Amino acid sequence: MIKISTDIFEAKKILEKEDLVVIPTETVYGLAGNIYSIKAIDSIFKTKNRPSNNPLIVHIDSYEKLADLVEEIPEKAKKLAEVFWPGSLTLVLKKKKSVPYTITAGKETVAVRVPNHQLTLELLKKLDFPLAAPSANPFGSISPTSAQHVVDYFKDTLEMVLDGGDCVNGIESTIIGFENENPILYRLGSLSVEEIESIIGPIKIMNENNSSPMAPGMLSRHYAPKTKTIVSENIKEELKKHKNLKIGLLLFKDDIDSCENIVKEILTNKKDLKEAATNLYAAMHRLDRKNLDLIIAEKFPNNSLGKSINDRLNRATK
Ligand code: TXA
Ligand code: MG
Repeated sequence: MIKISTDIFEAKKILEKEDLVVIPTETVYGLAGNIYSIKAIDSIFKTKNRPSNNPLIVHIDSYEKLADLVEEIPEKAKKLAEVFWPGSLTLVLKKKKSVPYTITAGKETVAVRVPNHQLTLELLKKLDFPLAAPSANPFGSISPTSAQHVVDYFKDTLEMVLDGGDCVNGIESTIIGFENENPILYRLGSLSVEEIESIIGPIKIMNENNSSPMAPGMLSRHYAPKTKTIVSENIKEELKKHKNLKIGLLLFKDDIDSCENIVKEILTNKKDLKEAATNLYAAMHRLDRKNLDLIIAEKFPNNSLGKSINDRLNRATK
């Protein structure tokens, strides 16, 4: 039976015996293990039912530790880390020999970030190894943004979730790699493209339809509720097509009349995209528990974090 706790000393003990602990971050909860332990990494993949060709993100507590993991740090990577770490930016860089291929799924690059969560930073400081941590959900399903979401998924299979409260950003980190020093955005996330570009200038966004995606977070179906989900630009029109169904609505604007067969989740009352991103997964989890016939999500404005939200909504519908 999983324990919900804030005891980082106990978390440390579990990790040191090469077992797993779920850690809070500002984006989503992560299923964490020692990057140098074959046993721990193997159980991350098994617990999530994650394909072994899907590499993991390595978590460290400071920029200084990046040099232990990667061969070189391009100038633009350095600039981004200076501005956004600790924070929701993952950098994909050429790995050092010492970083195991089990983490990188055989790639020569490794994904690294410094999460912005006090409890997890304290834990990382006490450990003498970094933590690999994919989102703490079964492969393909909605990421957890609270300790309770983690318990719902893994109550019988894991020992401990370190409770750091609700995740303040609520969607995963933005992933950036480099090709010949040129930055490429592999996954939209908690840091908007606009914020990234304000520091390093224009950035190429990885083509989603690429047949061998660099980041499987870019795979088309991902972050998906069990309930059938669609995205619509016109909720009122869409509702007319599904008159006899029990429907959940994920809304940006609250301009739909309440009625008996509709459950509404309004992601923000202030048209605030950041607030909407924070609430997105928790609202999806709630709707998914209600035995609805259909979830209709409203398409968000396609700028700033609206882009990242639309990305997640589109993947939830595939
Ligand atoms: O916000 C986050 O990033 C969360 C928290 C826990 O830190 N973690 C997370 O991990 O979202 P996960 O495993 O769900 O997503 C990791 C993504 C995957 O899409 C993976 O393919 C990509 O990172 N990735 C990891 N290493 C990579 C590499 N070397 N090259 C390209 N993509 C990589
Ligand atoms: Mg994930």
